[in-house]
Amino acid sequence: MNEDLASYWIETAPPGRPYPTLDSDLNVDVAVIGAGVAGLSTAWELARRGRSVAVLEADRIATGVTGRTTAKLTALHTLVYERLRRTRGIEGAKLYGHSQMGALRRAAEIVDELGIDCDWERAPAFTYTCDRDRTQDLRAEAETAREAGLPAEYVTETELPFPVAGAVRVTDQIQFHPRKYLLALTDDLRRMGASLHEHTRVLGLSEGDYCRLTTESGGVVTATDVVVATHYPIFDRALLFTRLSPRRELVLAAPIDAALDPHGMYISPEEGTRSLRTAPYQDGKRLLLVTGEHFTPGSPDVEERFKRLAGWATDHFGNLSFTHRWATQDNDSTDTVPLIGPLHATSRHTYVATGFGGWGLSSGIMAGQLLSELIDGSTLSWAELYDPRRVASTLREAPAFFKHQARVAKHFLGDRLPPLSGGSVDDIASGDGAVLRVGTHVCAVSRDADGQLHTVSARCTHLGCLVAFNRAEQAWECPCHGSRFDPDGKVIQGPATRPLEQRE
Ligand code: FES
Repeated sequence: MNEDLASYWIETAPPGRPYPTLDSDLNVDVAVIGAGVAGLSTAWELARRGRSVAVLEADRIATGVTGRTTAKLTALHTLVYERLRRTRGIEGAKLYGHSQMGALRRAAEIVDELGIDCDWERAPAFTYTCDRDRTQDLRAEAETAREAGLPAEYVTETELPFPVAGAVRVTDQIQFHPRKYLLALTDDLRRMGASLHEHTRVLGLSEGDYCRLTTESGGVVTATDVVVATHYPIFDRALLFTRLSPRRELVLAAPIDAALDPHGMYISPEEGTRSLRTAPYQDGKRLLLVTGEHFTPGSPDVEERFKRLAGWATDHFGNLSFTHRWATQDNDSTDTVPLIGPLHATSRHTYVATGFGGWGLSSGIMAGQLLSELIDGSTLSWAELYDPRRVASTLREAPAFFKHQARVAKHFLGDRLPPLSGGSVDDIASGDGAVLRVGTHVCAVSRDADGQLHTVSARCTHLGCLVAFNRAEQAWECPCHGSRFDPDGKVIQGPATRPLEQRE
């Protein structure tokens, strides 16, 4: 097993052409912040319409969340259609189905048109349960999904190597290699003259008739329109962070005999979600990808969770030799519908795409279609469903909203009360970390494999919650909104844009 938590998608795609850090000024029609599926899809759609586009990525293109997904491109999102029917009526469910199926068709057109080699496979998607008490929910989901325009049916048989109580089956969905797809899109963007910049962290946004973006590397971008596609928004006048909960999830990969291939993409709706798909592999085998173990960033038990997930996989597929393992991060919106559209109530030229709830491939491609229409002064029938300014669902969102706020408040307030830890740096073993009060400072102290101590402030630079150490991934993680930092405080993942302060 590759113990360094490298994603299979990142390891098996070409490294990609390097793009320069932006250290000079730039004028474009549209600046897109973030080069994952939502940012690149939006940039590509706009470049196709003749707009001059800049893409600004804090790290490398398609190596963030999109490089760590399970890469299911499907409109079946566990049990979303019944939930939408209850909260937005059947019309809401239909708009959702129409938009998500449209994203699949758009991706297929792009793959055809650009001739992208990205392990593209048509396969059915399933939401399955082994619990007889849940079958009624799945029957209802199949019916509503079908009414919403999906080729859905309720079945009791699948090709999984264990019996299920029931499943929703949607035919003709897609599994593919997300990074190969996005690198091809990036190459095409370059051919169309887009300005592509890696290792370019955006720090400031001022809005007006022309927007102005300042970067850590000194370059300033002036753009008529700006798209914030940074997974969790780094600019947030609308306080979207109050409606977004971050969660992490683990992925394991192991080769299996082709005869064991369950021929589809599967997810269970229960609390301990298990999700499965396969991908092409060598020597006539398939690669089984198993995903599960939702947890809040900063949880201390990631290794145990990996073991639990591996145990479940071997219990159900026999002896497996895992080749890859990694973790991914998603944001759930309080009403479970992504937030795609104007960045805030008075936005005229700024847009956001976030809150994909684990279904970022179809929603990210759809965001590209939707935002390019909005920037072009047009719209799509489902724009209102995803509009971040929506208020109609506020009451329905209330329970999820208050649950999220209670969790954040617990960290935000609880983290300010002594004592934080009675331990000392001597108690920190190699590969471990702890939050300690040192004088008036609250420090995040970790010890690397060589025994060297690394000490930074434990206050997250986003809104000041305390970070916690993830031993398995050697990262400081903020449970409030999911920012992540390396042991020296460098930002791995936002919404934070500034590093943790250095401490002696
Ligand atoms: Fe918001 Fe840390 S991510 S306070």
